[in-house]
Amino acid sequence: MVKYAAALSKESIIDVEGVVSVPKDPIKGASQQVEVQVRKLYCVSKAIPILPINIEDAARSDAEIEKAEQAGEKLVRVNQDTRLNNRFLDLRTPANQAIFRIQCQVGTLFRQFLLSEGCIEIHTPKLMSGSSEGGSAVFKLEYKGQPACLAQSPQFHKQMAICADFGRVFEIGPVFRAEDSFTHRHLCEFVGLDVEMEIKEHYSEVMDVVDRLFVSMFDSINQNCKKELDAIGRQYPFEPLKYLPKTLRLTFEEGIQILKEAGVEVDPLGDLNTETERKLGQLVFEKYGTEFYILHRYPLAVRPFYTMPCYDNPAYSNSFDVFIRGEEIISGAQRVHVPELLAQRAESCGIDVRTISTYIDSFRCGAPTHGGFGVGLERVVMLYCALNNVRKTSLFPRDPQRLAP
Ligand code: 4AD
Repeated sequence: MVKYAAALSKESIIDVEGVVSVPKDPIKGASQQVEVQVRKLYCVSKAIPILPINIEDAARSDAEIEKAEQAGEKLVRVNQDTRLNNRFLDLRTPANQAIFRIQCQVGTLFRQFLLSEGCIEIHTPKLMSGSSEGGSAVFKLEYKGQPACLAQSPQFHKQMAICADFGRVFEIGPVFRAEDSFTHRHLCEFVGLDVEMEIKEHYSEVMDVVDRLFVSMFDSINQNCKKELDAIGRQYPFEPLKYLPKTLRLTFEEGIQILKEAGVEVDPLGDLNTETERKLGQLVFEKYGTEFYILHRYPLAVRPFYTMPCYDNPAYSNSFDVFIRGEEIISGAQRVHVPELLAQRAESCGIDVRTISTYIDSFRCGAPTHGGFGVGLERVVMLYCALNNVRKTSLFPRDPQRLAP
């Protein structure tokens, strides 16, 4: 039996029948305090002798790899493409197992929190007749002879659910973006966590939900996922996220001022780019001691057509982005609920109003003031754990060059 067991390849699946006992002389420092005296051993599934990835190699941190190489140990560095080509194996490392347990927690906590706040979970169509976010980043397809596309967000339908008097809704579902950008944070398919709700007086009500939801989510993960966070940290060392019990809110103008004081000039009515967002994140951390904050009242010109302009100054909008470690994880806003203004805004953004007429018409039969936000699940996990690539937090990532496995 020992001979048979020794010949089994790594990663084979075996069933063992035996007696569990506490050894008289346990091996010093061993993590297991019991041993199994094997009586019978069955091979359920035999793995091929040479695997495309050696799991022990794939589980090492950069520091461990360097140390091993310096000690003359022969190991294979596993690059990202090899990992992703063999994702089912790559996912067996302790860090990857932990990443997707954390991802599961983020989704679960999102759902639990919103249900406790009286939201209802909805499921909107992913086949659409036109694009919801505009621009070219849309996957086109043919739908029974008609031109169609994959949903870039549940934006239109979650708003229509508010027009249908559901009060507060949320959705966890796939979002498709025909991104051309090959970056560390863009996927062509990701999981969107979306919320839409009636607003009584001010769009800060939506930011209040973001604040309570994410602070309680971070608290819960810190308390209940220590094992997972340690497993991730062993392979990808990181500092825990610093956040405040009440999330910091800065206006876009205040953000621009902070950048200006640090010698970084940006267009006051333009958008921030990846670099200036990171820089601002760093400056905000130095000034306020938080790596999680909300930037609101963005210039209207850089927001989608459905965003409500500020009542006091239409050059700005009732909108916000939320950042972790200087990178965006959420965008949100109050929406235009007045059909005439919505049509006018769509037109001025170059959108053919006929293609979105059913959406605009849904505001003609009485529509409450409302707002909401969209979160990228993979980005939340990536940035919470300070990982360097969103592909690490997507189970089977889809990017401009990857459609398999
Ligand atoms: O900023 P986005 O495009 O906003 C919307 O879709 C709005 N409808 C949301 C709303 O309710 N106002 O996307 C929302 C979030 C981003 O903040 C980001 O975290 C994530 O989705 N995201 C992506 N994640 C991975 N790959 C991409 N290509 C992403 N594009 C956006």
